[in-house]
Amino acid sequence: MKKGLFITFEGPDGSGKSTQISRLKKRLESLHISTILTREPGGTLIGEKIREIILDVEHTEMDHLTEALLYAAARSQHVSQVIQPAIDRGEAVICDRFMDSSIAYQGFGRGLGDQVRIINEYAVRGLVPDLTFLLLLDPALGKKRIHRDYDRLEKEEDEFHQMVYQGYMQLAAAFPERVVAIDAAKSILEIEEEINRHFDPLLEEWSNQ
Ligand code: ADP
Ligand code: TYD
Repeated sequence: MKKGLFITFEGPDGSGKSTQISRLKKRLESLHISTILTREPGGTLIGEKIREIILDVEHTEMDHLTEALLYAAARSQHVSQVIQPAIDRGEAVICDRFMDSSIAYQGFGRGLGDQVRIINEYAVRGLVPDLTFLLLLDPALGKKRIHRDYDRLEKEEDEFHQMVYQGYMQLAAAFPERVVAIDAAKSILEIEEEINRHFDPLLEEWSNQ
C-alpha cells in the first residue's frame, strides 16, 4: 500500500496556522484524499493531558528541560498512536506544529540548544514531515491577532518570542527542501494560494506513486 503524506504547519502564535490548515484540509477532502487533522501538543488523550500541564498559567515554576521533555513525551505518544499509523494506512496527516516547534521554542526560545533535537529524535523515531509550511509573522503582530486569554508560553516576554522567530528563520535556512517559509502578513487568500502552489507538485508526485 502506498505511504501517506505528512504535512506540518509552523510559526509564531497567531500567525494563521489554524486558518490555513482548515483550508488545506477542505481542499484535500474535495480531492477525495482521506485526511487527518491533528495538533501538538495534543492529538491523543494522553497528549491533551500533557498539554494542560504544559500550558497551565499557574505552572510558572516549570523547569525548561521539564517543559522540553513534556512536549517530546506528548509527541512520542502522538507519533506512535496517531500519526505513524495513519501514514501507514496511506492517509494524509496535517499537523498543527511538530518537532520544529520544539527546536524553535525550547531550543532557541529557552536556550536549550541541540539537546532539544536529541530528545526529539527519540520521540519521532525517524519520522520527518514531507513538507512544512512556516508562517512567518512578527510575534508582536501575531499576539495582536489573539483575542483570548494567553497561555503560559504566550505570556512569555517579547525577547523570548523574538528568539523563537530567529529559531524558525534558521530552520528555514537549514532545510530549504522541506520548509516553505511564507510571509504571514499577506492576506489569507494570498497565503492559501502560495501553500497550494508548493503543495501541488508533492501531491502530483504522491498521486503517481
Ligand atoms: P494560529 O493557529 O497560528 O494561532 P489562527 O489561524 O488561529 O492562528 O489566526 C489567528 C487570528 O488571526 C484569527 O482571528 C484569524 O482569523 C486571523 N488571521 C489568520 N490569518 C490571517 C491573515 N493572513 N491576515 C489577517 N488575519 C489573519
Ligand atoms: P498552539 O496551541 O499551537 O498555539 P497557537 O495556536 O497560539 O499557535 O501551541 C501551544 C503553545 O505551545 C504555543 O505557544 C507554542 C508552544 N509549543 C512549544 O513551545 N513547543 C512545542 O514543541 C510545541 C508543539 C508547541
